[in-house]
Amino acid sequence: MLNRNAVEERFAAYYHADSEVIACAPGRVNLLGEHTDYNDGFVLPVAIDRSTCVAARARTDRIVHCYTAQFDQADSFPLDAIERSATLPWSNYVRGVINGVQALYPHRLLRGADLLIDSDIPLGSGLSSSAALEIAIGAAFQALNHLRITGTTLALLAQQAEHIFAGVQCGIMDQFIVALGQADHALLIDCRDRHYKPVPLPSQVSIVVSDSGVERTLSASAYNQRRAECAAAMRSLQAHRPAITALRDVTVADLDQYGATLPPLIRARARHVVHENARTLAGAAALQAGDLVTFGTLMRASHISLRDDYQVSSDALDTLVAAAWSVPGCYGSRLTGAGFGGCTVSLVQTAAVEPFVTAVTQAYQSHTGRTPAMYVCRAAAGVQIIV
Ligand code: GLA
Repeated sequence: MLNRNAVEERFAAYYHADSEVIACAPGRVNLLGEHTDYNDGFVLPVAIDRSTCVAARARTDRIVHCYTAQFDQADSFPLDAIERSATLPWSNYVRGVINGVQALYPHRLLRGADLLIDSDIPLGSGLSSSAALEIAIGAAFQALNHLRITGTTLALLAQQAEHIFAGVQCGIMDQFIVALGQADHALLIDCRDRHYKPVPLPSQVSIVVSDSGVERTLSASAYNQRRAECAAAMRSLQAHRPAITALRDVTVADLDQYGATLPPLIRARARHVVHENARTLAGAAALQAGDLVTFGTLMRASHISLRDDYQVSSDALDTLVAAAWSVPGCYGSRLTGAGFGGCTVSLVQTAAVEPFVTAVTQAYQSHTGRTPAMYVCRAAAGVQIIV
């Protein structure tokens, strides 16, 4: 866990002044419900005990200065004209969120800030380091300016920032769980109306994240393409059932009846989403009832569907889940997040975690020659602001 005092000390050393607030936002791992959020569907993520912290101090002018310890890079921009950075991708998350916060208060002159970012969330491995950065920046900036933005609004404006400033047409899941996660619980989120329900995680189970170490290649363009394919499926099915406004509204019976009218690839994408929504609702009920065996079976079915119908898995991810499935004490395992590389998530009996880590590491090494990073995670709370 990132040491908050160390972040404050870094701030003092860099800016020669004390910070006024520190906001820490967690990474996330999704247990079930992949590529359903932008189809108005259901997701079941947890916030994890790795975080991005932003130490901050208000300025008297309208300039934002920002330093990131991870890249050892700095940037600054005026609040009066926030544009995309052509050279510093990380800064676009900062710029996008501050731009979004400002847009909520068109009649207030917000103050600039000195910001310092530090993080122990691995970058680019699908644990939502970008959502954590967005939410931590938004939380720190609103605290400095004495604003009261709700978690849902913060999540929505961070999602917009990602669309406009980073060019990824992401859904709401990552920003939402990072803002609103609850310790020891997953959240069942209805991405249509954004209602959510905390679902307790049984105490005898651990969340193990295995990082394939393979950077997610072409993920932004492939992700946006999947989104477009879902929209195409939705439009075709609307011709038969005009009440459909998203794949969320499509039932298994609809697919059986009208699926043949869709091109095979589009039908496979829709099949994943429709069944994944059903799995997520069934999974939340199973978890609530403490039925980890059913939950694990649903995770496995989710991975197979992501691999075959949605085609977002990779050899590395398939190797990790196949190894996990064969270890005693592992309830279930699947790729997590957008896919195309990145991480898998496994639910493992706490008593079996050590042999699980050893077995999966060895299997992955012998198949790929690479060593996976393995993180045993706790379900943590969403963003915290310390003034
Ligand atoms: C990324 C996006 C999310 C979601 C997942 C896939 O993490 O940011 O909105 O679509 O992929 O489930």
